[in-house]
Amino acid sequence: MRKRVIGNWKMNGTIADLPKIAQIAAAVMRYPNVDSGLCLPATLISAAHAYSPQLQIGGQDCHMQEAGAHTGCISAAMLLDAGASMVILGHSECRAEQGQSDADVRAKALAAMQSNLFAIICVGESEAQRDLGNAEKVVLDQIEGSLPDICDAAMLCVAYEPIWAIGTGRIPSSQDVENMHGAIRSRLIERQGEGGKNIGILYGGSMNGENAGELMAIPNVDGGLIGGASLLMEKFEPILAAANIEDII
Ligand code: 13P
Repeated sequence: MRKRVIGNWKMNGTIADLPKIAQIAAAVMRYPNVDSGLCLPATLISAAHAYSPQLQIGGQDCHMQEAGAHTGCISAAMLLDAGASMVILGHSECRAEQGQSDADVRAKALAAMQSNLFAIICVGESEAQRDLGNAEKVVLDQIEGSLPDICDAAMLCVAYEPIWAIGTGRIPSSQDVENMHGAIRSRLIERQGEGGKNIGILYGGSMNGENAGELMAIPNVDGGLIGGASLLMEKFEPILAAANIEDII
């Protein structure tokens, strides 16, 4: 499977950052074997799409309805209209800060699919849940609740992001990543049949140029969802390079 490397800029970036986005777009073009792009704040999508039209751009959330009385919200159709081709859904920060449930995430994923936006559906356990030995159950329950019944690799991928690894510089052991990604793969195959083999499973949480090669060599790690290290081309490019090498091997 081709690796997928997606940057998540979270609540960072203004028009002044368009040249930085263009630098990242140029880096992305140097690694044609990797499916990569940037998920930007909604306010930047249109401008970034015009400034760097070759870059795949995504949003970071969308509403489940197409339009209506939902102050402050953005629909999948609006993201598409602004130039996005993908959207992150169910990020742990959205689940925690906005109380988004698995059912919400599933409804958003259906809305994304209807608008032809590729959905990156995030799952991941808290540190307390891992310490209690519940990490796998928590994550598989999120998969069950958040993914539409009918889905395939062309519509979505999963991003496993242990909450305690996000922005902390801590990452799980390779064995723990292998176990979790293996469990997610088995569940995807149970749910979707053979098609479950092709659904991408990204790892996210403190991935950087130093650890990306090792992480992406783990079975069933099909790429990365990158926060902090996606903000600058100099930090993002080594991750693209690691993904590209894996692809060639
Ligand atoms: P960091 O790479 O900054 O840990 O963030 C990961 C993340 O939350 C990506 O969605």
